[in-house]
Amino acid sequence: LSHLDGEARRILRLNDKGCYTVPTAGLYPYQWNWDSAFAGLGFACFDVNRAWNELETLMSGQWENGMVPHILFHRPDPGYFPGADIWGTQDAAGKGAGRVASSGISQPPVAASFAWRIYQRDPETGADRLRRMFPGLMAFHRWFMAARAESGAVAITHPWEAGRDNAPDWDAAMARISPEGVAPYTRRDTGHVNPRMRPTKEDYDRYIWLVQFGRERGWDDAAIAAESPFRVADPTLTFTLMRACRDLRLAAGVLGEDCAEIDGWIARLEAGAERLWNPETGAYDSYDLRSGELAGAVSNASFLCWWGGLADRRSLPTLARILDTARFALPSFDPAHPRFDPLRYWRGPVWGVMNMMAAIGLAEQGLSAEAARIRADTAGLITENGFAEYFSPEDGTPAGGATFTWTAAIWLAWAS
Ligand code: DGY
Repeated sequence: LSHLDGEARRILRLNDKGCYTVPTAGLYPYQWNWDSAFAGLGFACFDVNRAWNELETLMSGQWENGMVPHILFHRPDPGYFPGADIWGTQDAAGKGAGRVASSGISQPPVAASFAWRIYQRDPETGADRLRRMFPGLMAFHRWFMAARAESGAVAITHPWEAGRDNAPDWDAAMARISPEGVAPYTRRDTGHVNPRMRPTKEDYDRYIWLVQFGRERGWDDAAIAAESPFRVADPTLTFTLMRACRDLRLAAGVLGEDCAEIDGWIARLEAGAERLWNPETGAYDSYDLRSGELAGAVSNASFLCWWGGLADRRSLPTLARILDTARFALPSFDPAHPRFDPLRYWRGPVWGVMNMMAAIGLAEQGLSAEAARIRADTAGLITENGFAEYFSPEDGTPAGGATFTWTAAIWLAWAS
């Protein structure tokens, strides 16, 4: 076991709360949906049973409509805002919110993809766990297709739903919200992390405004879809769901389940992804369903098309340009764009989890040089700068939270 493998395992154990893992103590003290699925992938490298527990706890928060929330508030923690009281989902509990206090939105659905990978580590003991999880994963994907995929591509109702909170993709849509009536609040994130590495106050006011907007509608998907000023089809959700459907299809194969419904979803998502293609930037983009406009944003999510399983070569020249300009791949936003900011969260920094998905997708399409570059850069960033939440693409400066679960997980599962 190398020193860094040992350190990565230590971080997973450090952040382990028994049957779920926090992304990092302090800044994120609860179970986050996609962070948790990545944690499962990391645990699978040395404790497969614990890996299944992680995903099972995540799925235990599933709502009756199939949604798996982006945060499960297992135990109250005053160090985080907005907590369960602000989301108010327990008021909706009688109407189908889950048994675990939670947020009212979801996150990139990578759970089925990593359940499939965990299963592959140990098919003999995993078959039972996979079989028990299968109906919940089907219901989760079915909910996305019904509640978010009216354009074919998958829409977010809140920037937090894409996981890329302050990406420039949403700047235009966010600017249309005037955050009036937001109750006074105190941010907690900037008490844990340097504020210049976090979203701005203008962003936060609108994040909270959108939470209030959903809560006032009892987290009713149809009401939010009809009335919210914010609805953006996003490559993160579209490509992670596309991949998760393909992986769920593989699971259906070994379990002897019918694939017809999943095949229908994949076909709809493939057609919908075309809406996200931006010929001007030469990359997949976000599409504002209210204004009918593409964002003009080349992000690390743009390059998840191969992870999604598309045999698409159109964005390769753009990827080549980005790889040429960034010292460390992949920046979360185009370094040539005036809004690029190398340390501010999703407006520039490198994220290991996105790198893993992009590189695996590239390798599967036979684009092994690009995949190798992204993997080598990720391994180098971690080796030189530790298991940070994210890194500057200019000089590797570690940023955000430290001892970070998903960075440790992708080290074990892929980068090492
Ligand atoms: C946060 O609190 O910054 C999270 O990203 C929200 O999910």
